[in-house]
Amino acid sequence: MPEQLWTEVDTYFTDRLSLADEALTGALAASEEAGLPGINVAPNQGKLLQLLAEIQGARRILEIGTLGGYSTIWLARALPADGSLITLEYAPEHAAVARANLDRAGFAERVDIRVGPALDSLARLAEEGTEPFDFVFIDADKVNNPNYLAWALDHTRPGSVVVVDNVVRSGAVKDAESTDPAIVGTRAALDLLAAEPRLSGTAVQTVGSKGYDGFALARVIS
Ligand code: SAH
Ligand code: DHB
Ligand code: MG
Repeated sequence: MPEQLWTEVDTYFTDRLSLADEALTGALAASEEAGLPGINVAPNQGKLLQLLAEIQGARRILEIGTLGGYSTIWLARALPADGSLITLEYAPEHAAVARANLDRAGFAERVDIRVGPALDSLARLAEEGTEPFDFVFIDADKVNNPNYLAWALDHTRPGSVVVVDNVVRSGAVKDAESTDPAIVGTRAALDLLAAEPRLSGTAVQTVGSKGYDGFALARVIS
């Protein structure tokens, strides 16, 4: 019952605020057609990512967890003409769908998809001496959330913004005894956020078409 209501309100927002267009709905249709799981962000959360990246003035964005490139399109829309986005995806079949979706959305040039385990791709990026990122969206395997957040801290600058998706999981995050690796990983990332003086952060619960979940938002302060 509440889930249905949340979905109806999300549908109202998406329609009234015009949060769907050809590139976005086409990306979701192609993802579904290819059998990808429907675990992309909701349209209003995608727009929130775009707005946060715009407010931050992001020129270099890192995304961990591409899937079909739906959130990637929202984030890429925040970029100035000379901006760039690197997105990391484990599954080659997801990356192939994302590549086509991003090309169709007009981001053939500005979005680099790196295929493989994100920890390997991050190590490679560090070896390449990648410039600091202005905005990082962490949305892959939740067990590695503390590793991704720690990497982000080392490869951002004061003023950079980090968003960690899916930190609530229907409330499971509050369970200190949880043995679910995703919950353990998410709690460890929140522990790092709390303990790290270089990060200032919060966490917010959300309801909507994707159920009951939430995100953490942090700013690199030094
Ligand atoms: N950000 C997307 C959703 C990502 S779903 C959106 O909102 O549209 C999570 C993705 O992370 C999946 O495609 C999954 O294959 C990928 N993933 C899981 N483990 C990973 C890993 N170790 N390294 C990189 N990607 C991983
Ligand atoms: C899952 C992953 C996500 O990134 C998401 O937004 C929802 C669910 C999952 O792995 O179940
Ligand atoms: Mg997610």
